[in-house]
Amino acid sequence: MSGMEAEAPVGLKHKHLLGLEDYSAQEIHLILDTAESFLDVLERPIKKVPTLRGITVVNLFFENSTRTRISFEMAEKRLSADTVNFSASSSSTQKGETLRDTAANIEAMKIDAVVMRHSAPGSCLFLSRCLDSVIINAGDGAHEHPTQALLDLLTLRRRLGSLEGKRVTLVGDILHSRVAMSNIYGLQKVGAKVQVCGPAPLVPRHIQDLGVEVFWNVEEAIENSDVLNVLRIQLERHNAHHFPSLREYHEEFGVTADRLDRHASDELLVMHPGPINRGVEIASDVADSGRSVILEQVTNGVAVRMAVLYLLLGGKTREH
Ligand code: CP
Repeated sequence: MSGMEAEAPVGLKHKHLLGLEDYSAQEIHLILDTAESFLDVLERPIKKVPTLRGITVVNLFFENSTRTRISFEMAEKRLSADTVNFSASSSSTQKGETLRDTAANIEAMKIDAVVMRHSAPGSCLFLSRCLDSVIINAGDGAHEHPTQALLDLLTLRRRLGSLEGKRVTLVGDILHSRVAMSNIYGLQKVGAKVQVCGPAPLVPRHIQDLGVEVFWNVEEAIENSDVLNVLRIQLERHNAHHFPSLREYHEEFGVTADRLDRHASDELLVMHPGPINRGVEIASDVADSGRSVILEQVTNGVAVRMAVLYLLLGGKTREH
């Protein structure tokens, strides 16, 4: 994948963050280490540093988002960058303007970076070839969601220390999940053992070729995991029935307190990228239990996005 073409501002080899597939373990650890120091900033009474003063970031969201959009905007503001939010529903894309033209017009207003969420896999790579700006992928279809995986890694590293050999199981709709792909790449690079579990129609064929173990039974998966990362059933991306009903999905694959009581180790952690569908992929009492690190993931997301913005854009402030 592209992204290697420009100067490395402060330690990353890439100009963009399009995905974790081509990021090295060293780069991932650099982002996580940098995020740790931004977590300290976020604990201060004044949670703001002047690091990206003079930098302008446009948040270009063509798909709905709560966590990622607010988290990026907050990270940009905490770093003193100027931020502009774009919403597809109120933009001229409704009048037929293409992504390339929309982005080129925004770039003509002198910006430094675009954070984009789009339903098309590869749209961030496409944008990186059209623009001079730094491109950060906030989720492109079922391809990748790299900052989600980075915040998942930070959350696990803070809880477990080294992730070497830790068994992390992604449970649910693997086929339609950009979070799954970025987690597989990221976790493997830091030495974790990645496993998946879900109904056969929602597990990509040949996923074992990525070095991933597959469980078809959720109780067996729970018994053999240190961490469950529970994924939402992405009905909006389904173009066929992959299981009879949500109730039956929950009965067969739902992560419930009863299943955890019977099969999990006391230390097993439960993650979820959100949004949660309580009572479908995860029982409400599990989402709110002591095993759950779901809100820690959200907190860590701001620091991870500050780290990514700083590492990709920090060098630009010195050019000004
Ligand atoms: N985890 C995640 O990407 O959530 P949003 O869709 O709310 O951004």
